[in-house]
Amino acid sequence: MSRKPIIAANWKMHKGPAEAVEFIEEFDNLIGDSSPVDIVLAPAFVSLPAAKQALVNSDLVQLASQNCHFESHGAFTGEISIGMLQEIGVDYVIIGHSERRSIFGEDDGLINQKAQALHAASVKPIVCIGETLDERDNDQVESVLRRQLTDGLKGLDAANMLETVIAYEPVWAIGTGRTASPEQAQDAHRFTREVIGELFGEDVAARIRIQYGGSVKPGNTAELMSQPDVDGALVGGASLDPVSFSEICKNAG
Ligand code: 13P
Repeated sequence: MSRKPIIAANWKMHKGPAEAVEFIEEFDNLIGDSSPVDIVLAPAFVSLPAAKQALVNSDLVQLASQNCHFESHGAFTGEISIGMLQEIGVDYVIIGHSERRSIFGEDDGLINQKAQALHAASVKPIVCIGETLDERDNDQVESVLRRQLTDGLKGLDAANMLETVIAYEPVWAIGTGRTASPEQAQDAHRFTREVIGELFGEDVAARIRIQYGGSVKPGNTAELMSQPDVDGALVGGASLDPVSFSEICKNAG
């Protein structure tokens, strides 16, 4: 089963509108007219409209937001609805990032509400999962991933899952410079695919794309991507520079 790789840039709390546009103009020149991988940019909320505008002539790059609220509207000060994101033209929404889980206290139940709301609106979720160092040291990688997948994806069906991307991001590898070895990534991805198979069937498991995230750089992309169950990358720090992100996209192809 061949799965088209998907490489996403998670800019986190970096780049306002002007810097986002500057990145896109430079990236556009570097990446050329075609790419063997799907490319997604996830700017901060405030930079999404400018990014969308800058991408108006691009067939290659899609847009994601880094979060959303699950309600359509209401008294939720500081939150952004899926409808608002659709109005801008967002294709994907990242949910369940470990920074949302650990810093903002998001749990699998909340992530599940967001996943369900996104599918109801036909916006594709990128659902992040991953264990902490403590959990890995205590041999809990599989139980943590199984719980995050089972509870986070509850109520979704096979059709929903074919529109979902999973991002395996071991928390200890995020922003630390410490990448999971290709074997560690492959083990976690293979297990993730196995659990997806149990929950949604073998066809979904064979077709769903699973990204790796955590200190991905141009130099380690090809080796990570050569693992049979690694279908892409969710890139933080190394996605902030257009040269480095374009190299990652090329090396993933
Ligand atoms: P780094 O690539 O900076 O480790 O961040 C990974 C990440 O959290 C992407 O969502």
